Amino acid sequence: MINSKNVRFINALILILFIILSLTGLYSLVWPSPSSFFEIHRIAGWALIVLIPWKSAIALRSLSRGVDRRLTRNVMLLVSILLTLATVTILLLVLMWKWQIGDYYVWIGPYAYSGIGWHWGIALGMIPFFIFHVWRRWPRPKKVDFTGRRQALKLMGFGAVALVSWWVAEALAKATESSQAPRRFTGSREEGSFSGNAHPVTTAPGEGKIRLAPETWALQVRGAVETQIRLTYADVLALSTSEVTATLDCTGGWYTVQTWRGIRLADLLSQAKIRPEGVGIILRGVADYTAPFTLAQAEEILLATHVGGEALNHVHGFPLRAVVPSRRGWHWVKWMTEIEVITL
Ligand code: HEM
Repeated sequence: MINSKNVRFINALILILFIILSLTGLYSLVWPSPSSFFEIHRIAGWALIVLIPWKSAIALRSLSRGVDRRLTRNVMLLVSILLTLATVTILLLVLMWKWQIGDYYVWIGPYAYSGIGWHWGIALGMIPFFIFHVWRRWPRPKKVDFTGRRQALKLMGFGAVALVSWWVAEALAKATESSQAPRRFTGSREEGSFSGNAHPVTTAPGEGKIRLAPETWALQVRGAVETQIRLTYADVLALSTSEVTATLDCTGGWYTVQTWRGIRLADLLSQAKIRPEGVGIILRGVADYTAPFTLAQAEEILLATHVGGEALNHVHGFPLRAVVPSRRGWHWVKWMTEIEVITL
């Protein structure tokens, strides 16, 4: 029988782990490094898995009280069941992804997405339910729950099992890794490196049909600048002299290393002369797809016209896409039309 002290201990640990998992998870959706954040996420994930037997005992005890006439209790029960289903689903999905069990794409209802994509998608959807669950079921942790030799030994025990599980899981992932598509610390698999346009594409619904005509296309630089600039495709090609080899890592689970050729954004901004009140930039693509950056972050950005010596094709963002080495792929704005220097 699990006593109330251990119930508070386990629930408080799960709360701390979910906070770590959500923060490292959210971080990993934006920045593909440092790898330590991904390892902290994995270790926290295994610590959560290790706690499942104890949490199940707590949940079953609560479930055994069944439903009653109080709406709030029944709503809470429903939320707890949903959270349990979602947690088990995202754990299974990510371990199948990690150990390359099953197909790259997983169908849930009429939708197919990569196992890792579903992992974070469902995890994001869980966060509001988790906050509601914690708000209504606050574990009321007490200092005594985490102090004392017994509790310290329990914590060390959980930590040790989580670390060993993480290590074994990584070794298994190495063993099941495909030599064609090696896995990166982000969990993404390599596809089509140094193959020019022959690398995977992640598009939102409708984006696959985008075809910009070079004759009518132009790139605008506007906002807090001394000189507004309008470049035609021919102008951009003439300025397209800088090259960078960078890794495009998509949160959908693939990554590719390519040599990109184009214009350094910093060169374009110094040509436009940013006014003193300028504090950042917004890169804008068709369908008003935008990504904001600070002026410092703009230093690393390349506006690419070519990949692997080939002009970008339509699905990769012809005529111009952003290359942002320090960000995950969804910040690499495709089909660019505008650079706006913003003020506070
Ligand atoms: C914002 C949300 C999240 C994102 C972006 C995210 C992303 C990731 C990524 C990229 C991996 C590595 C996959 C691999 O190595 O192939 C991973 C692993 C994992 N995540 Fe998450 N995750 C999120 C939330 C969560 C939550 C809420 C949980 C817990 C319920 C969780 C549990 C795990 C576990 C157990 C692993 C596997 C550990 C391992 O790789 O050995 N994640 N996650």
